[in-house]
Amino acid sequence: MSSPNVAVIGATGAVGQVALQILEERAFPMNSLRLCASPSSVGKKITFRGVEIEVETPTESLFKDTDIAFIAAGSSLSKIYAPLAASLDCIAIDKSSAFRMDPKVPLVVPEINANDIWAHEGIISVPNCSTTQMVMALSPLHDVNPIRRVVVDTYQSVSGTGKAAMEELQVQSSQILEGLPIKPEAYPHQIAFNALPQVETFLDDGYTTEERKMRDETRKILHSDSINISATCVRIPVPISHSEALHIEFEKPMSPSEARSLLSSFSGATVLDDPFDSKYPLASSATGRDDVFVGRIRADDSHPNGLVMWVVSDNLRKGAATNGIQIAEEIINKDHSA
Ligand SMILES: NC(=O)c1ccc[n+]([C@@H]2O[C@H](COP(=O)([O-])OP(=O)(O)OC[C@H]3O[C@@H](n4cnc5c(N)ncnc54)[C@H](OP(=O)(O)O)[C@@H]3O)[C@@H](O)[C@H]2O)c1
Repeated sequence: MSSPNVAVIGATGAVGQVALQILEERAFPMNSLRLCASPSSVGKKITFRGVEIEVETPTESLFKDTDIAFIAAGSSLSKIYAPLAASLDCIAIDKSSAFRMDPKVPLVVPEINANDIWAHEGIISVPNCSTTQMVMALSPLHDVNPIRRVVVDTYQSVSGTGKAAMEELQVQSSQILEGLPIKPEAYPHQIAFNALPQVETFLDDGYTTEERKMRDETRKILHSDSINISATCVRIPVPISHSEALHIEFEKPMSPSEARSLLSSFSGATVLDDPFDSKYPLASSATGRDDVFVGRIRADDSHPNGLVMWVVSDNLRKGAATNGIQIAEEIINKDHSA
């Protein structure tokens, strides 16, 4: 499969649009590209590599003619289209939560567990955006000094909810500045000039589904069921890129300089850590970049084996589209070298 037939399902969405940019940037090898969205987008034209492609709806015959489908249209549609694709010999690289915890479906961050890809049975899941950037910071440290516990607080951008929420932030911000009434739709409350301690829906134990994903997906990716993780996920009025404060407890002490050195040599991570010069990762500068940025690395003065750090990443790129495309590149490169 050196030059696959590719389809993007959800091509008009926040993740789908960025996926198309990245496929262009990385000169992703492909024989053909088909773009799918909802019936209301059918007939729209999207330019890719200088050629206009007409948007269509996903069909059985499309998956039959496709080798790799990137699916970014929400969980309920993934539950229909990913198994359909797989049954027709099309590998589904799924950005939704639908199959992430299915033991038969690999959940992959290529820098960490690329080898898990080869157990796939036609569907490969891309982790939740908040999880991906966290495990990118944890993995190189965990490899040398096992992590026992992480307490994480997130500051998540509205693009994590999709294109409608991005529009709502813009419109609501102007309405509030102009003294006009607002009508929250994407979230239960006003998101402009606010911070909402709710990302997704609440479970019986008081955590949200997003917070649970951060725990369960991290354990699956790192192959470590013993890591304890307590997350508080917060939505903030930032357009793109999530930020996270991580409080990590290791088996043995780890110095900030050792952590800096391990993270600096980990592919896909960039250390930006000169606080006295006000240099640390920012959502505004991480946006449009593929790396996960780590800074404010310091000893946790409340625990002898603890470290604290600040981790920022573009949720639409490494948190979704880039990670999916990296998985596809692994598949193509392996087939090529076989
Ligand atoms: N946003 C993130 O940071 C992020 C990160 C990781 C994973 N994800 C996951 O990626 C997926 C997409 O998220 P998003 O943020 O891109 O959402 P979005 O901006 O709301 O886009 C949704 C896409 O799905 C399409 N769609 C809707 N109904 C459809 C149908 N019946 N058939 C085919 N396509 C249909 C939409 O097409 P129309 O334009 O025609 O409505 C649009 O292209 C979700 O599963 C999400 O959980 C998102």
